[in-house]
Amino acid sequence: MRIIHATDYEDMSRKAANIIAAQVVMDPACVLGLATGSTPIGTYQNLIKAYEAGDLDFSQVSTYNLDEYRGLSHDDPQSYHYFMKENLFDHINIDQANTHVPDGSDPDAEAACSEYDRIVEEAGYPDLQLLGIGNNGHIGFNEPDTCFSKGTHCVDLTESTIEANSRLFDNIEDVPRQAYTMGIQTIMNAYMVLVVANGEKKAQAVHDMCFGPIQPSCPASILQLHPNCVVIADEAALSLC
Ligand code: GLP
Repeated sequence: MRIIHATDYEDMSRKAANIIAAQVVMDPACVLGLATGSTPIGTYQNLIKAYEAGDLDFSQVSTYNLDEYRGLSHDDPQSYHYFMKENLFDHINIDQANTHVPDGSDPDAEAACSEYDRIVEEAGYPDLQLLGIGNNGHIGFNEPDTCFSKGTHCVDLTESTIEANSRLFDNIEDVPRQAYTMGIQTIMNAYMVLVVANGEKKAQAVHDMCFGPIQPSCPASILQLHPNCVVIADEAALSLC
């Protein structure tokens, strides 16, 4: 695991975007694993800037997102489908048919999740998987547990995640209680993992991810075993490391 110190959110975002940009330039038909949440928004903004400057071409890139709330339609403004269009896909020349997000609108969890595993496997797994990290060490929506999950599955969100994510909803009752998420094994199958984290709220999770015991109570800790994992975090997020 390589830890890159960033001075602040802007610095973190630019450094992360540079790595993703290099991936796209070196392999124009690459597979990117993408993430939602506030943390990667700045990274996406930098990628959009590079695209607008004529430095990036996404026409052959395909993307697979980590997760989606269960029960939200694709055009629900709180859905991760909508988030990705708003924050990235609508601003670059990616073929929307090459973008994939688990289908939270499918009430049949087993069918939706196994279909997602099938297409991620068929794509050959991400060349680069971008990740944020939850305050409790979750990645994707893989919450602290007693074992590491494998493939895409339906999860019950913890109260702390519901509370953390409620800032993006009108009120906490509107936050979906379940989500479909890629499993830990799927995430570990990516050739490179790039984690971004900022702010002191993430300090404990970042410490446990990088230096804590590898255990499912901190799902991100498994990344210590990934052969090519880069963490870019600002000083506040690294304050306990
Ligand atoms: C959500 C997402 C995660 C994300 C986490 C942290 O739960 N499912 O993929 O990493 O939030 O979000 P933020 O970056 O807003 O702190």
